[in-house]
Amino acid sequence: MKSKSLVSIDQCSKEDILRILNNARKFEANPNRKVLEGKVAATLFFEPSTRTRLSFETAVNRLGGRIIGFSDASTTSSSKGETLKDTILMVSNYADLIIMRHYLEGAARYASEVTNVPIINAGDGANQHPSQTMLDLYSIQKTQGRLTGLTITMVGDLKYGRTVHSLIVGMSHFNPTFKFVAPEELKMPDEQKNFCDNHGIKYQEYTEFTEDIINNTDILYMTRVQRERFTDMEEYERVKNVYILKNDMLKNSRDNLRIMHPLPRVNEIAYDIDDNPKAYYIQQAHNGLFARQAIICDVLNIPVED
Ligand code: CP
Repeated sequence: MKSKSLVSIDQCSKEDILRILNNARKFEANPNRKVLEGKVAATLFFEPSTRTRLSFETAVNRLGGRIIGFSDASTTSSSKGETLKDTILMVSNYADLIIMRHYLEGAARYASEVTNVPIINAGDGANQHPSQTMLDLYSIQKTQGRLTGLTITMVGDLKYGRTVHSLIVGMSHFNPTFKFVAPEELKMPDEQKNFCDNHGIKYQEYTEFTEDIINNTDILYMTRVQRERFTDMEEYERVKNVYILKNDMLKNSRDNLRIMHPLPRVNEIAYDIDDNPKAYYIQQAHNGLFARQAIICDVLNIPVED
């Protein structure tokens, strides 16, 4: 039987998402459960990461499992020319679960096709970041008390930002309205807009980031301009500081507004926002631990007790 992997959020039904979020809530109540005793998880990070890798590794540790892996692919035999297929087959000899971040779009799906060990996609190029989406959905549900009928404004690099691409798909089950704020060069790609059109999801596009947009928003999802995806550094310099959220822009925002960001931030959220009770990005990253514990148990078919 082919193993269960999480390579893309679009493989998750609404029921799958709600089950994983419910299990994340159980892990938040009690994160230390020894359900992975005797199991080994491998974290293969071909791209840099702080939150995703460390929260996955914390999740495995708190579940009683063990971790192998690397955070710098230049120290591995891939730097000698070993293919991704061979790397995955080797690690499959050692681990019960592979958590992988890779710079190539489609790398996680490919990995899932060459091994029977479950693969969790920890980000593949500008494509998908499904575990981020699960923690984003958990954060939205926690802060809003619901997932349905919310207005979500996405700001910044909507072209290369895999977190926003995944979040559109994850939210598609819950009748969202999206506002996409991006410079022309970093507009939401047609693929995601076609997805919205085909699923009857309302969206508007803007190039100006105005208070009027903020005042009609439940979740303000800020993103970093992804320098590492640009081939033209002059273009990056032109757009890198295009939107900076400052405290005074929030003065007429809704009481329930929460500011999210997948992090890392560069300049797009001023530091004075950190003390605003509507800032939620640090708690959002904390929620990643519980969401990832729930995802690990889901792919390994481990039941989560109350
Ligand atoms: N949000 C996120 O993916 O952060 P890292 O790149 O630090 O893992």
